[in-house]
Amino acid sequence: MMKVAVCPGSFDPITYGHLDIIKRGAKVFDQLNVVVLNNSSKNPLFSVEERIELIKKVTSDIPNVKVDSFQGLLVDYAKSVKASAIIRGLRAVSDFEYEMQITSMNRVLDDAIETFFVMTNNQYSFLSSSIVKEVAKYNGNVSELVPASVESALREKFASKE
Ligand code: PNS
Repeated sequence: MMKVAVCPGSFDPITYGHLDIIKRGAKVFDQLNVVVLNNSSKNPLFSVEERIELIKKVTSDIPNVKVDSFQGLLVDYAKSVKASAIIRGLRAVSDFEYEMQITSMNRVLDDAIETFFVMTNNQYSFLSSSIVKEVAKYNGNVSELVPASVESALREKFASKE
């Protein structure tokens, strides 16, 4: 049977850190659905459509990755695509409490879906979409942090806000 996993997140925008987790997850599962979900504590810079477009561009060379979005609970999305697993990246101890809360809640909601954590490559342990937006907003160089298409989308987005 085909093993499907879900890699959820805000992806506002996708970074090399996310991409590293996606590539590694895609090696282990038959299909990896990267899904843009709403995080109610965040106010996104990019629309869901823009985020999907960027994820599609930078994952186009990974054949078993599908890109999607969902309004609602992650476990409901996972069920709808018959996924048995959720993949999340862990950067540092500081991520642990937040991730433990989400994972425990998801397990209460549906204990048939298992969450797996992938330790972020050390190279990206400091990296977050928020820090990338902060640097890009003030015209700093983010070329080592995000793919070129994301870098230009950030540049355009901040130029249109001036
Ligand atoms: O990239 P993020 O912002 O850390 O991702 C968090 C996300 C979007 C995965 C999380 O907020 C989420 O799963 N949102 C969907 C709503 C949901 O299922 N909430 C219940 C678990 S707390």
